[in-house]
Amino acid sequence: GREWIRMATARTPTNIAVIKYWGKRDENLILPINDSISMTLDPDHLSTTTTVSVSPSFDSDRMWLNGKEISLSGDRFQNCLRELRSRASDFEDNEKGIKIEKKDWEKLHIHIASYNNFPTAAGLASSAAGFACLVFALANLMNVKASQSHLSAIARQGSGSACRSLFGGFVKWIMGKDADGGDSVAVQLANENHWSDLVIIVAVVSAHQKETSSTSGMRETVETSALLQHREKVVVPKRIVEMEKAIEARDFASFAQLTCADSNQFHAVCLDTTPPIFYMNNTSHRIISCIEKWNEAEGAPQVAYTFDAGPNAVMVARDRKTAALLLQRMLYYFPPQSESHLDSYVVGDKSILK
Ligand code: PMV
Repeated sequence: GREWIRMATARTPTNIAVIKYWGKRDENLILPINDSISMTLDPDHLSTTTTVSVSPSFDSDRMWLNGKEISLSGDRFQNCLRELRSRASDFEDNEKGIKIEKKDWEKLHIHIASYNNFPTAAGLASSAAGFACLVFALANLMNVKASQSHLSAIARQGSGSACRSLFGGFVKWIMGKDADGGDSVAVQLANENHWSDLVIIVAVVSAHQKETSSTSGMRETVETSALLQHREKVVVPKRIVEMEKAIEARDFASFAQLTCADSNQFHAVCLDTTPPIFYMNNTSHRIISCIEKWNEAEGAPQVAYTFDAGPNAVMVARDRKTAALLLQRMLYYFPPQSESHLDSYVVGDKSILK
């Protein structure tokens, strides 16, 4: 037959958990020990763009990340690719002379080119955007007939937090009960227009790669932390219910209180791990103090903070006016590239700087 190439491109933002996922009950399928809730960020600053292509002239599956070829041999990529191939359907484009039957997907090879518009593996959830985007783009390319939640269960097998990036707005990853993970999926709690007053500002405290990967960190915490058991059984189930209510009612005081407390408990279980894991640094701690003092002085929370597996601060301001004040304060107390060791800021809404 004639040579042809078929391509699909997708762009997916990262998400930041406000009730954290930390700990797996099944490492291969990536099944969590608790539910989690996140916000999907706007795609302009923290997103992955992925182009996937298929052609009979490709003789192996290959992938490039930010222009550099990376290996696809890891279990996580292979699990995602196998699931997608098994769900692919027939595809026909008469104009271009392309005819792919379901069984052909087992033999056809794909090329993947992915770009992050933010630092990779610096605790800015690059794998979340990456795997969500990869699965979404491939599902389009391969004509996979599956719901968005079903795709989230495939992305989950690439990186747990990736399942939440299949949706915008506020998203819950339901831990599920089934051994095969079929019910461990993401669902949208509210779309991106539900609480549009909120503005997210990320302080990139360090753009360097994190020292302890989330996979080994979680494993060590599950094996050694007694505090994690209390968190998993008592604290998180209650917080999930309260957070859903806070989001639904756009109750910023509850939202901020729960978000900050949950970030702090996540870092507490890291500290309770043997040997202890430190993701935040001195600058992170100073940012927390600064926001806590401000919130206390105002008599009501103005800004929430949360930190993932790295020192970077994700701050959520209650509205645009507060976000402008927050940025002013941050630039004053933590000027980029100074002895505060802070790299840069990413502002969730471009117009805030006007
Ligand atoms: O999906 P992973 O392996 O990148 O783990 C993410 C863990 C946290 O970012 C710390 C919390 C979360 O819920 O996203």
